[in-house]
This record gives sequence, C-alpha cells and structure tokens, in this order.
Amino acid sequence: MAEGQGAQVSEAQIAVHWREEEYYHPPARFIAQANAADPTIFERFREEQFPECFKEYADLLVWDAYWHTTLDTSNPPFWKWFVGGRLNACYNCVDRHLATSRNKAAFIWVPEPESEDTKAITYQELYSRVNEFAALLRDFCRVEIGDRATFHLPMVPELPVSMLACARLGVVHSEVFGGFSGAACGDRIADSGSRILVTMDGYYRNGELIDHKAKADEAVAAARERGVVVDKVLVWRRYPGQYASKSPMIDGRDFFVDELLKDYRGTLVEPVSMPAEAPLFLMYTSGTTARPKGCQHSTGGYLAYVTGTSQYYQDIHPEDTYWCFADIGWITGHSYIVYGPLSLGTTSVMYEGVPTYPDPGRPWRIAERLGVNIFHTAPTTIRMLRKLGPDEPNKYNYHFKHMTTVGEPIEPDVWRWYYDVVGKGEAVIVDTWWQTENGGFLGSTLPALQPMKPGSCGPGVLGIYPVIYDEERNVIEAGSGRAGNICIRNPWPGIFQTIWGQPERFVQIYYERYCQDEKSTDWRDWPYMAGDGAVQAADGYFRILGRIDDVINVSGHRLGTKELESASLTVEEIAEAAAVPVMDEVRGRAVEMYVALKPGVSPSKDIEAKVAEAIEHEIGKIARPKNVWIVPDMPKTRSGKIMRRVIAGISNFADVGDVTTLANVEIVDDIRHHVQGEKVARGEVPRELSPQEMEDIKAFGHAE
Ligand code: PRX
Repeated sequence: MAEGQGAQVSEAQIAVHWREEEYYHPPARFIAQANAADPTIFERFREEQFPECFKEYADLLVWDAYWHTTLDTSNPPFWKWFVGGRLNACYNCVDRHLATSRNKAAFIWVPEPESEDTKAITYQELYSRVNEFAALLRDFCRVEIGDRATFHLPMVPELPVSMLACARLGVVHSEVFGGFSGAACGDRIADSGSRILVTMDGYYRNGELIDHKAKADEAVAAARERGVVVDKVLVWRRYPGQYASKSPMIDGRDFFVDELLKDYRGTLVEPVSMPAEAPLFLMYTSGTTARPKGCQHSTGGYLAYVTGTSQYYQDIHPEDTYWCFADIGWITGHSYIVYGPLSLGTTSVMYEGVPTYPDPGRPWRIAERLGVNIFHTAPTTIRMLRKLGPDEPNKYNYHFKHMTTVGEPIEPDVWRWYYDVVGKGEAVIVDTWWQTENGGFLGSTLPALQPMKPGSCGPGVLGIYPVIYDEERNVIEAGSGRAGNICIRNPWPGIFQTIWGQPERFVQIYYERYCQDEKSTDWRDWPYMAGDGAVQAADGYFRILGRIDDVINVSGHRLGTKELESASLTVEEIAEAAAVPVMDEVRGRAVEMYVALKPGVSPSKDIEAKVAEAIEHEIGKIARPKNVWIVPDMPKTRSGKIMRRVIAGISNFADVGDVTTLANVEIVDDIRHHVQGEKVARGEVPRELSPQEMEDIKAFGHAE
C-alpha cells in the first residue's frame, strides 16, 4: 500500500491545481419537455427512501407477479432485488408495445454502405422475428431455461433479435463484441459453458465486407481446447441466401439461420415468466488477471434500472428517435440501445459501420435523414469526428435535444466542441460514468435539473450515494481537492449479481477492501469499490480520473494488461512482456508492448509483428499495440517485479519516478534512448501530458 499512498499525496497536490470549469445550463426548451423536471424527484430518491425509491423504476415495467421484498440483503454482497417478482424482459421490450405501437419502428438499422437502404423494423415485425428465432432455439437447439448461448455478432438487427429471443425463453445470452477474435470468443464460450454459438457470415466495416464466420471456427476450436464442445453454430447471413464467408460450413454443426427459420414461420412462443433474480445475460470484461470476468446481470433489477435511467437521464419519450452510437457488443449497447429504449417503446437507431465511413459527415447525414433527436456516443468517437471533420455538423440540418458521452473521461475542450458544434448549442449533455458491472449509470447530471460541467460527470445519479475513500478508509471530503477510490455506499437494482463461476473473486475485487464487517447483513457495511480514482468538487460533482487497477482504457474499452501480456507470450521467442498505456490523441489511450526475448534470439521487425499479430489473434484488432518495443531486459525490482510505471513513463516522455529500488537501473537509460529516439524519428512525440495524465502514468502498475 505504500506506493498507493504516495500516489494519493501527489494526486492531491495536483488536483487542487485544476481549473474549475463553468456551468452550462439546460435550454428552456429542453426543460419544458423533460421527463424529470420537478425537483421533488430528489426527495423521492434521497437516502432515507432507500431502497423503496427504486419502486418508481420497477413500476415502469409490467410484472407477472409483483415482488414482496424490494431488497434482500441476507447474503451480502449477493443482493437480491424485487424478490418474489416475476416478469419477462422480452415481453416488456416487445409484446407490451403491440397494442398501441405495433406499426412503429422499434429499430431503424443503417447499413454501412450508403448505397444500401435503411431498414425500419416495426414492433410487430420484431415480435414476429423474435418469436420465430425463439422457437428455433427451443425446438431445434433444445436450449432450456438457464442455459447460456454465446453470440459473436456485429451491429445488425439479428443481434437484438437473438438477445430478445433468449430473454423470451429465460436463456442467458452472452454477446462477445464482434471485433474480438475467434480465440477471445472461444475463451468466453468455455467460461460460460455455452453449447450454442450464434454468429454471422460477414458484415461491413470501413467499406469492406469482412469474413466473420472464419472466427467461429477458431472460437469453437478454442472452446474445445478448454473442454467445452459447441454443438451448434447458427449462422445469420448478411444477405440471406448468399454466403459471404470463405469458411466451410461444417455438416451437422453449422446451420444457416435463414434456412432453418422457414420451418418456424409464424410460430409464437409464450414468454417465460422469470423470477426477478434470474440471470438475463453475461457481459465479459477485463480485470487484473488474464481470465475475463463474466458479469452476470439480473432480469428484474437490471431491466428496471435501465428503464428508469433511460426515462430520466436519457430523457427518452416514446416519440423520440434515439441513436446510441455504440456497439451492442458492449454494456452500453445492451442497456442503452436495446433494453432501456425498447422497454420505453421508443425508436432506437442502429448503425452497422464506422463513424467516418465514407467520410466524417456520415453520422450527421444519418441524424438529418432519420430526424434523430437524442444522440449518445463515446469521447473517442467525438475526438475522431472533430479531428477529421470539425465543421461537418454545420453542413447538416439536424437538431439534437440531448446528447450523452460515456466510457472515458472527456477533455473539457472536446466537451465544448461536442456542445457547440455537434449540439449546435441546443442540446443538453449528460456525461455518464458507469461500468460493465453496473448495468446503468452511476454518476451523471439529471439533464433538466442539474447544470453541466465539462469534464465532470456530475453527482451520483438518483438513488446512488457515492463516496471517495482514501487507502485507510477515511472519507475524502468534497472540495478537499484530494483524490481517492470512488465507491458506491449502497446496492442498486442494476448492479451485477456475481462474476460467472467466480463468486469469491466477485467479493474480493469489489467489496473486500472497504467492507466494514464481513458478518454484517446491513448494506451500509458493504460499499462497492468501482476501481476508479476520482475527485469530488465542493458542489458534489465527481471528476473520474481513471482506473486504479492495471486496466488500459482504449477508446472506452477495457483491456487488461495481463491479457495483453499472456497473448504476447504465445510468441515463441518472447520471454517476458509488459503492456503500458500511451496517450493517444483520438483513442484516449493506446497500448504499447515491451518484450524481452529468450536467450539466443536476436531482435527483428518480424518478432515485433508477430507480437502484434498474436494480440490481434488472442484478443482482437482493438487491442493491437501502437508499438512493440524489444528491450534487452525489463526494469525490475530486486524481487523481480516488472516496474511498469518506468516503461510507461518512457513511452509517454514523462517522468519515470523513483528508480532507486530497481535491480537494474542502468537499463532505464538504454530503453529510453532506444524508444524515445525511435519515436522522435517517427514523429510520435506526444503532446505535453496534463497533471492528471502524469499522475495516471506514475500510478500505473500499482495494482500488483
Ligand atoms: O474508468 C471508468 C471509465 O470506464 C470504465 C468502465 O469501462 P467499461 O466497463 O468498459 O464500461 C464502459 C461503459 C459504461 C470505468 O471504470 N469510464 C466510464 N465512463 C466514464 C469513465 N471515465 C470517465 N468518465 C466517464 N463518463
């Protein structure tokens, strides 16, 4: 802990030097129509009303049986919400809207090629498609309640159709981001014990029809190596009737969904009434070990939480056209493309491709054409669009009332471009801080009632009571200028239930550090540790500094250093590997790998390329390192631990901190000379780091 404490002191000094940003107030037009414009809402959600305050969210749903206990804390920290209640998530997202809105678009899907037509899928059509696919899963695949089904699907309507079909049956879906590799998908299949893989032959990305089915073969092989046999691979086709992949279909294992569906035309499947605490889905995320964590989300609590936060924080009305420009392969897409908006019966836009294809005006053309009035994306996308098309939004006639940012800290300067240029000064912005584990927002402003402050997410959202603790569990007061570990003092309905198959790790990672009394069944003794550093200003607004563990946030997506390192070690010549973050103008952070070779192996460009490929193979393109540096040795402590902060400092042209504890100090100058020399030659010298970024680099590697 000594190192952590050191970081606290210096972070504290840094924090007070930050400029306080000015407030921005919501436009009167927004306030006039907002779902939450009456300040008494804060009364309803104040701590004295907890946990009953969340009845307001649960009452947005249709329950088959009402619950008897709002929150059961008898087995902490395995909280149970709405106990005794029964419902079906698919019924709530689809069936219940048919009576009033069957002909309304549930999804509007925009294919990447502009030559292809946009497709609107009405609630009625979604209902038919979900029922037919549910019938296929039940009767052809013989899945049963509680079974897991893994999807490796891109941004196509077949993804929400598959999710909702599982939800209808009480089958637990586990979608793996389409950009992840076959190997990464196979790992997640094995971890969840799925017998079914649902995939697609191909999809468009950056103008190219990518062969995706090939990854399914790798995934099935990787799962088999870990002892899990996939019986059936269901392949949706991007163009039904035509096959876009070169990978052969394996007889008896691989099936084209469009062919199978012919047998289920018009079949209806009764939605299964599930207990509120039944798992709805798994979503894998990275942590400090190489094994990804399958975050298990519940049916009732999760759906209530995403519906409530969509209503109040996304300000979704049924007549809105809402576009969350994220991938459904991440939690943001599950909660705020599919479950939240559909539960409220709105129209949710899905876009297949990359933001800048074929040019950086694309998102604004989509917004103009479809009349999008709520827009939701990540700082990475905003930075990229600003860089490549700073004036593009002005050329298009769209009007947003509301915009969201999510996934990483947003620089105040980028925030202002989002507000002035993308939002044309007409839209409120909510900066939403939360995590895969959380189901929905934790920190944000209630858009009509709380002013915005660039770079800060805002206070805890309704019913969430955050606190910042130092390493000794002292509360760090708001306005003290000191940073610490942000925790949530209370449970909430959207919190994940456990890490699939690893309940001990669930308790250890999120609760052990700040639990006051392991025997206690009072939730007050069990704060949830988010794993982020944060500072709270005197007005109660939080500024999130980033991860306190060794997770690198690339474009808003979490990559564990251990995963990157074990992928590198699959290259035969590599003896040791260390992953560090490097500041990146567009992606926020990028990955750099440092590797040391086995004795007798000489450095070569070929080995560097092999490491990059191994990472792409094991994890996916998103993790591809910006650089691979072959070094004669890693900077190590006397006990043999790699000091990541030293190489992180070098990569970022920042201070490497105290190196006196190193066993091989002399190596530092060698590495610096080599790496920084190359970077200067390539024109890769980063801009000067902000004090916050400098602290982040110094703190890197402390989680070990
Ligand atoms: O470090 C925080 C950062 O992203 C992490 C969660 O990543 P993930 O589970 O992939 O979920 C991303 C989308 C919900 C957090 O621990 N983060 C997320 N949102 C913000 C953020 N950092 C600053 N500001 C945010 N709004």
